[in-house]
Amino acid sequence: MNKFEIDGNILLKGDSIKILKTIPDNSVNLIFVDPPYNIGKNFNGYKDKWESEEKYLKWCYEWIDLCIKKLKDNGSMYLMGATQFIPFFDIFLRKKMHILARIVWHYDSSGVQAKNYYGSLYEPILFAVKDKDNYVFNAQDILVEAKTGAKRKLIDYRKPIPTVYNSVKVPGNVWYIPRVRFRMYEYEEHPSQKPEALLNRIILASSNQGDIVLDPFSGTFTTSAVAIKLNRKSIGIELDDDYFNNGVRRLTEIKKELKKSKSQVNLEVFHNSKTEKSLIL
Ligand SMILES: C[S@@+](CC[C@H](N)C(=O)[O-])C[C@H]1O[C@@H](n2cnc3c(N)ncnc32)[C@H](O)[C@@H]1O
Repeated sequence: MNKFEIDGNILLKGDSIKILKTIPDNSVNLIFVDPPYNIGKNFNGYKDKWESEEKYLKWCYEWIDLCIKKLKDNGSMYLMGATQFIPFFDIFLRKKMHILARIVWHYDSSGVQAKNYYGSLYEPILFAVKDKDNYVFNAQDILVEAKTGAKRKLIDYRKPIPTVYNSVKVPGNVWYIPRVRFRMYEYEEHPSQKPEALLNRIILASSNQGDIVLDPFSGTFTTSAVAIKLNRKSIGIELDDDYFNNGVRRLTEIKKELKKSKSQVNLEVFHNSKTEKSLIL
């Protein structure tokens, strides 16, 4: 099987450049890209190392251009990459899109850290839009606690009418989100699985229900998993057979869970409406 579809979420097995070329231009609302890093990770036997940096970058520029083509005019792209290569992506992308934020996804140490230099505890993400005057950003859906000021119940006297400090705010560009670890409920066997919490924020902020979210290097299909939970549609592409099959299983399980929790809610509504009815009678 090279294609699997569930509730408007399409999982495709194959090379992302080849598949991207088959997706209609101007058709996608949001793209999350987390490509191979060119640092020698082992993706199920496939070695993540190009002959030279130039060859790696040439390959990246090809799929970045294709992604831009597939985005709708009010679309957004979140582009991740190894810290070594993000500066190149940044320079390339800012000639074609508006980079509105350079996000640092920061996490705790996972086991052994470097002893002779400063170990890496973050991954950079570029947030770019095609049109800086017309793009989706659901600030209200991603608010976080504003600790300073509000916690001390300060009053902001700079405002025309003195007002208590806000207790919530839009997150800044440094996001602390723990990495996915063995035995966490969302864990899949993959060397660079991204946490659902990371995709949750991105998809909530930069798409609406029913929108199409594309992930050209899906790995464990985190993007598709979160998209289905948030009532978005998605297209996920992955080259590796095992990762693709795991993605099919993951999405099928999530769908089952969603169905179960929906029928539980319906049952509760049913019970409540019966109680209400008997009270009215
Ligand atoms: C950094 S991982 C993505 C991890 C993913 N974001 C997740 O949360 O699991 C990159 C993935 O790209 C896949 N990949 C490598 N080359 C590819 C290609 N040419 N086309 C499609 N997928 C590819 C690898 O197998 C790997 O799973």
